Amino acid sequence: MKVAVLTLFPEMLQALTGHGITRRAVEAGLLSVTAVNPRDYTTDRHRTVDDRPFGGGPGMLMKVEPLLVALKAAREQLPGPAKVIYLTPQGRRLDQQAVERLASEPAMILIAGRYEGIDERVVETEVDEQWSIGDYVLSGGELPAMVLIDAMARRLPGVLGHQDSAEQDSFSGELTNLLDCPHYTRPEEIAGQRVPDVLLSGHHEAIRRWRLKQALGRTWQRRPDLLEARQLSPGLSSEEQD
Ligand code: ADE
Repeated sequence: MKVAVLTLFPEMLQALTGHGITRRAVEAGLLSVTAVNPRDYTTDRHRTVDDRPFGGGPGMLMKVEPLLVALKAAREQLPGPAKVIYLTPQGRRLDQQAVERLASEPAMILIAGRYEGIDERVVETEVDEQWSIGDYVLSGGELPAMVLIDAMARRLPGVLGHQDSAEQDSFSGELTNLLDCPHYTRPEEIAGQRVPDVLLSGHHEAIRRWRLKQALGRTWQRRPDLLEARQLSPGLSSEEQD
């Protein structure tokens, strides 16, 4: 998957390309992340990238011309048509289902807005989808763009090894719409707190059922809204539903 990010702060993307699983994905050629900076497409002496909103009021918008030229440059550097996504608190709330659909796109342009955002006509004519990463306001779209890229990278075939299989993530595979179960590592006891016996039993079916019950219990306590989205009966024996 090839992703171009329109951003005034290209260095921020190094947090993604320089570390961990996303870095591995880039090195393996499964993911490419490039920055296109509207500031590089300005024509004035001050390299202006912001502009005043019509109607007045506080705050600035991203200047239209550099944004459009940068967008054209991003399209030209990607193979074939690319979906254009604008990260904004006004977008639909991102979830695992959307991430998995978007991860199947071969190429994508992410617009990371700064200031109060971008001109609505640019949204209407250039943007295919708008996504928010949650109901809070960040200082720019870079972190949301990186959140989306990270989540998509985990779904690209070959990115995760068996050890960190995507099917074991909360919200995916057997745990679709469930929070993850608790996990334990050595030592078996920390200040009197023991690892649950079942996990030391070597009884794989008992462990699977314990984990599923824990996941269901946690989800019921912490995120009951998720259970409404999940059909409880299929996949669970009557014993497991007790
Ligand atoms: N830009 C600023 N805040 C945001 C959010 N919560 N989601 C997506 N883009 C944003």
